[in-house]
Amino acid sequence: MSARNLCTFVRDGEIQDKGFAKCCLRAQILCTGCAGEIATPWPPQGQKPLSLSVNQFLRLSARIVNLLAANDKPKSDRRNEWDFMARRSHFRDMKRRDDPIAVLTAYDAPTAKTEEAAGVDIILVGDSVGTAMLGYMSEREVTLADMRHHVGAVRRGAPKTPIIADLPYHSYDTPESALNSSRLLIAAGADMVKFEGFLPDILAALVDASIEVCCHLGLEPQHHEGKGVKGRKAAEASRLVRDAIALDKAGMAMLVLELMPEEVAGRVTKSVAAPTIGIGAGRETDGQVLVITDVLGFTPTNYRHNRRYQEFGQIMLEAVSTYVFDVRSKKFPAEANMFFMDRDELEKFLKDNP
Ligand code: KIV
Repeated sequence: MSARNLCTFVRDGEIQDKGFAKCCLRAQILCTGCAGEIATPWPPQGQKPLSLSVNQFLRLSARIVNLLAANDKPKSDRRNEWDFMARRSHFRDMKRRDDPIAVLTAYDAPTAKTEEAAGVDIILVGDSVGTAMLGYMSEREVTLADMRHHVGAVRRGAPKTPIIADLPYHSYDTPESALNSSRLLIAAGADMVKFEGFLPDILAALVDASIEVCCHLGLEPQHHEGKGVKGRKAAEASRLVRDAIALDKAGMAMLVLELMPEEVAGRVTKSVAAPTIGIGAGRETDGQVLVITDVLGFTPTNYRHNRRYQEFGQIMLEAVSTYVFDVRSKKFPAEANMFFMDRDELEKFLKDNP
């Protein structure tokens, strides 16, 4: 256990809660674990400061340590919490070093396993699962049950890779629904949740609950009709920068920038502490994300923002057509695909079944 990562909130001498660095930015109560990160003055206006003698402080610290040791959360849950800060500083360090972050979507275990083996930094279980995998007409049809199902599969395929899960359309309309939906996705295996749009209140509610959030600005497929580039006009571009800065101050962990001019994404990236991950947003973001079915060539349209690294759609069509031909022409199965009885057993069997 490392006290460095963990904050304990104390109000009126009582331990109220424990959490992680960013929470105390909003909770505005004493935080013993991340004093360096407290951005808001403490105590909040109208409240008496808590003063502790050294002995009181030591006793309190000992209580905190015991409390944590007796923490009845399952080990796996706790491990995720400890990873929270490590993950956060890892990706912020990558941003500082200008070390590009490679993100890809995945929706199933074998693809996730392959992405983990290939060294993908983060897997996004996007609501693109709806159109890419589930045959829906729009991302808006994706349900929380769909997302949980696919997040679970991806987690089983890639146990070590950080996973961002999309909050589906209408699953974060209020802070309460956002919290409930996020908790379900985290229980299914996600490390971070993502929602679209400038929603500082929703972000604040999630950050207060120690949930890592990736925001998403620019084209918002859940909210915008059509798939056009956003921020081509100066006013819209400035609004994107302003929104990103406000969300950064409110504690977002990461920011997806979808379909916008490189100049705008570059300015946003320089203006925020959180790493930015671009899709159709040029070269100046801290990382890139693409949709795996677009990358592998399963999608009929090849979008300008995408690069197809394979033509698996074509390869799959050829493989499946050959299988159909082989079945129809009795070339499949071959002897190598069959099982046979031992001679003695076969003789007995033929005797019993003349
Ligand atoms: O759902 C998704 O795949 C996404 C990416 C396009 C960023 O949100």
